[in-house]
Amino acid sequence: MTYPPGQASPGVHWELKRNLQKRDHMDITLNNGLSMPALGLGVFQSAPEETTAAVLTALNTGYRHIDTAAAYGNEREVGQGVRISGLDRSDIFIETKIWVSDYGHDRALHAWDKAVGKLGVEYVDLFILHQPAPDRFEKTIAAYKALEKLLADGRVKAIGVSNFMPHHLEQLLDATDVIPAVNQIELHPYFTQPEVQAADAEHGILTQAWSPIGGITFYPGWGGEDRRNVMQDPAIAAVAQAHGKTPAQVMLRWHLQQGRSAIPKSIHPGRIAENFDVFDFELSEAEIAVINALHSGVRSGPDPDEAREERFALVIPEA
Ligand SMILES: NC(=O)c1ccc[n+]([C@@H]2O[C@H](COP(=O)([O-])OP(=O)(O)OC[C@H]3O[C@@H](n4cnc5c(N)ncnc54)[C@H](OP(=O)(O)O)[C@@H]3O)[C@@H](O)[C@H]2O)c1
Repeated sequence: MTYPPGQASPGVHWELKRNLQKRDHMDITLNNGLSMPALGLGVFQSAPEETTAAVLTALNTGYRHIDTAAAYGNEREVGQGVRISGLDRSDIFIETKIWVSDYGHDRALHAWDKAVGKLGVEYVDLFILHQPAPDRFEKTIAAYKALEKLLADGRVKAIGVSNFMPHHLEQLLDATDVIPAVNQIELHPYFTQPEVQAADAEHGILTQAWSPIGGITFYPGWGGEDRRNVMQDPAIAAVAQAHGKTPAQVMLRWHLQQGRSAIPKSIHPGRIAENFDVFDFELSEAEIAVINALHSGVRSGPDPDEAREERFALVIPEA
């Protein structure tokens, strides 16, 4: 599906209007009063040539929140999807992330120029640090101070972090003024990070789940032979069957009912729709407890405390 920049097909406009009227969704108010749709579309590993169509499909389905990152290499295509959707910019919540090679105060300010240049927008709704740089934490702090300046200047509406453990949060809070609105972390039934969720809650930081349907437990090229695919978990399958829903829908409902934001990724229209069709059923406390009990304590993604030098080799191109 390709659309010329700046135009949408009449069909897309019509669908959007229809969906705007029947827009089922759930908003979360962040600690600075900003409203954010709880469920968003993730685009990590969405190839640039697939991203615009995925974003358009999501917006057409009713999503109003997209999560991207400088490091994903598809901010430009996200912006294209937003523009050709025909929706008002103010109706779409755009979240993006600064990569570690752009940490430090001035580099982080320039990372904003690069992000808005690629996205083709005047402001970013939520701008976050992609991960702590544990071996260069002073640069992480300096980058966050740049986020504070962008916030004060009205160039971003909220700021936050990702992959911060409680001790990273403590170090950050000691050195800065604005409490992050969001901490985006690996969170699916097999790895729920209760200690990070507790630290977030203590400070009024919203926990946002990445790999909310467990992508990191099954996408190709990650993890060892012994990893378990949460999408195939029998306990989740049983809950799904009881509600006539899919495992992905049950996991997303599990996040939402516990007050978290979730940003499932898909490039397939059927799955994009499936992942948004989660507002017409409710899990019981017992079902939530069953899913919470699946927590293994074993992380599938990278350890945020591991200083991996190769991350700094990724240079984020100019807009
Ligand atoms: N801050 C960070 O460090 C960080 C790290 C990882 C991810 N993230 C963010 O979080 C988002 C989501 O995480 P994620 O992409 O790792 O994992 P995820 O959303 O949990 O799962 C995505 C995987 O599940 C498949 N999928 C999607 N919907 C499905 C469904 N209904 N049934 C079966 N399979 C389905 C997708 O394939 P298809 O696309 O082929 O459908 C993809 O392989 C990312 O896109 C990114 O925005 C952030």
